[in-house]
Amino acid sequence: MNLAKNLKTFWYIFFAPMLGKNHQERLEYFYSRQADNYDATRPFLLAGRTELFQSIPLAGGEKWVDCGGGTAGNFEAIKERVPLCSEIHIIDLSQSMLEQARIKKEKYGWKNVFLHKGSVDESWPDWGPVDRVTFSYSLSMTENWFDALTEAKRNLKPGGLIGVVDFYAAKLHEDRPGFRQAWWRRTLFPLCTEKDSVSIKPDYHVFLNKHFEVEKFEIGRFRYPLSPMYIEYFTFLGRKR
Ligand SMILES: C[S@@+](CC[C@H](N)C(=O)[O-])C[C@H]1O[C@@H](n2cnc3c(N)ncnc32)[C@H](O)[C@@H]1O
Repeated sequence: MNLAKNLKTFWYIFFAPMLGKNHQERLEYFYSRQADNYDATRPFLLAGRTELFQSIPLAGGEKWVDCGGGTAGNFEAIKERVPLCSEIHIIDLSQSMLEQARIKKEKYGWKNVFLHKGSVDESWPDWGPVDRVTFSYSLSMTENWFDALTEAKRNLKPGGLIGVVDFYAAKLHEDRPGFRQAWWRRTLFPLCTEKDSVSIKPDYHVFLNKHFEVEKFEIGRFRYPLSPMYIEYFTFLGRKR
């Protein structure tokens, strides 16, 4: 464990402002200072990622687009499943994060993994209809999340699956027990994450539940190290009708 590296990473996550004139510049400022330590630190901060990637069914030959896929750490966690796919496209706006993904692509000899620098809320390259789309803690960082999900839905083939894991915020008036949150939980944590351009809101799961046939919508809980307060995240798996 490299203490200096970890302290630097946690400084940028919890204290330093994200500088830049636009979203891409702010992301690059943030990630260029910690991308080489991202995979070592995020298991403590972002729960449910490997579980989601493990749970995506694959029969073989699928085309999979991972939006805001960053370092490709989620594919490393399921590396035995990578050869099952015909193509895996990772889109990310941060060059530093994609550089870490490139190192993994070379290390594992992934010929079916393609890395694209771009914004997921803009038109995707024409890969033809895709079978799987995932967003792992990237929807809450995508400014135009509505456009990103619309583009995901447009590119998915009928019956294709979308998987999302992200921080959970309950609707203001939530009827279902188990999905409710106290006002302070719904408001305080999202306030803290805004500094890192992470916008936590209920709109994501409301949209997903409305626009896809729901296979799974679950809330999970975890704690940051030393934190007295737990954090909630949701996992969504749905099919395009
Ligand atoms: C919290 S990281 C998650 C990375 C990875 N999916 C994971 O689970 O570890 C969010 C990622 O989304 C990317 N991102 C944010 N906004 C984006 C956008 N509009 N288009 C593409 N990528 C974006 C960031 O660069 C970053 O790599």
